[in-house]
Amino acid sequence: MIGRLNHVAIAVRDVAAAAATYRDVLGAATSPPLPLPEHGVTTVFVTLPNTKIELLEPLGEASPIAKFLERNPEGGIHHLCYEVDDIAAARDRLQAQGARVLGDGAPKIGAHGKPVLFLHPKDFNGTLIELEQA
Ligand code: CO
Repeated sequence: MIGRLNHVAIAVRDVAAAAATYRDVLGAATSPPLPLPEHGVTTVFVTLPNTKIELLEPLGEASPIAKFLERNPEGGIHHLCYEVDDIAAARDRLQAQGARVLGDGAPKIGAHGKPVLFLHPKDFNGTLIELEQA
């Protein structure tokens, strides 16, 4: 059911500093910082030949990554995003198998303008999973 690894998201305290590490130390192509107030994050996209890395810095009071950074002050891998062809069908199949979809189960428009869902990390080896409609 899952397809390509769309991105690995890494939560950081300072997205400009993290982007500089990827650009200057690792020699990767990085985008300018992009504030996404509706998602509570500022992102930098690191483009790799086979996938992307998303660096996420909290933006605003109710950022969904604020608690994660309290527990992981140095930053860390926050979630993996897999592509699916049909996000509603994927949700129905997962729920039928007892997997927990976060929120009300309705896909929301994600940071790339496509429908996304998040799956409970306790059902997937301690890893928060994002599904994105391909
Ligand atoms: Co993501």
